[in-house]
Amino acid sequence: MSSTILVTGGTGTLGRLVASRLRDAGHAVRVAGRHAPPPGHDIDFVQCDLDTGDGVEAALSGVRTVVHCAGAQKGDGDKARLLVAAASRAGVTHLVFISVVGADTIPVRSRFDRAAFGYFASKRDAEDVVAGSGIPFSTLRATQFFELTLLTARAMAKLPVIPVPKGFRFQPVDAGEVADRLVELALNEPAGLVPDLAGPLCYPMRDLIRSYLSAAGQRRLLLPVHMPGKAAKAIREGANLSEDMAVGRKTWEEFLTERVPGVVGR
Ligand SMILES: NC(=O)c1ccc[n+]([C@@H]2O[C@H](COP(=O)([O-])OP(=O)(O)OC[C@H]3O[C@@H](n4cnc5c(N)ncnc54)[C@H](OP(=O)(O)O)[C@@H]3O)[C@@H](O)[C@H]2O)c1
Repeated sequence: MSSTILVTGGTGTLGRLVASRLRDAGHAVRVAGRHAPPPGHDIDFVQCDLDTGDGVEAALSGVRTVVHCAGAQKGDGDKARLLVAAASRAGVTHLVFISVVGADTIPVRSRFDRAAFGYFASKRDAEDVVAGSGIPFSTLRATQFFELTLLTARAMAKLPVIPVPKGFRFQPVDAGEVADRLVELALNEPAGLVPDLAGPLCYPMRDLIRSYLSAAGQRRLLLPVHMPGKAAKAIREGANLSEDMAVGRKTWEEFLTERVPGVVGR
């Protein structure tokens, strides 16, 4: 019988999609997170906190492959350290990790950059932990998911005037396509750092917000602002994009049409 595949963060946006795809393909799957999924969730769940270590041994019991999707704005390096130590003890033979485009190219050194863009540094830290763990691994860097782009646009639309960093562009991607790729990686031999997965189109941030406002039937004033610091400069130069790897198929407009009623315009 094949061993159980553990999906950390299997209750989150991406992890849910990974877990259901693996289950539908006939694999034994367990998901782990701090909070139990809502009623009706039909995949084995183990409560596990990768900040404290609570539940991690139980989550890894009988597991040979881990798809590590648990993540937060901060501390992903420490989560990875805790996970790989336990995974080594448990005999895991393949660790699949999701990182972000820009983890290696956006410099995060000043106090301001750490506060505003520390996420990229913590993903880089986690990448290094995974690569140095001694466990065979596959790491994929993806661009921002449509869901996060929508969440950000919705939050900004609560403001009467929306500050928009000048020169920022994004290349959002479908989380379902990222999940497909992680499943493919999990079911194959460890491949190390694999080519990025990025959305089909790059958009100035103001266009993403405008298209959301148009779809939601809202009008707001957009105020261009200059973001200081080296991390913002790198983003203006496209360090968060992967234009050569624009292999995602679904577009932001298609996603908006599904998720937000109203007319979509760019
Ligand atoms: N969203 C994006 O645009 C994007 C782009 C590229 C890469 N990624 C990466 O993809 C991964 C998944 O992103 P997502 O958007 O699906 O995130 P999400 O929806 O916020 O889900 C995060 C998951 O991690 C779990 N988690 C958070 N802190 C944890 C902890 N201390 N211990 C155990 N589990 C914990 C959460 O469950 P509990 O809160 O219940 O613990 C949840 O299941 C992250 O690593 C993220 O960095 C995301």
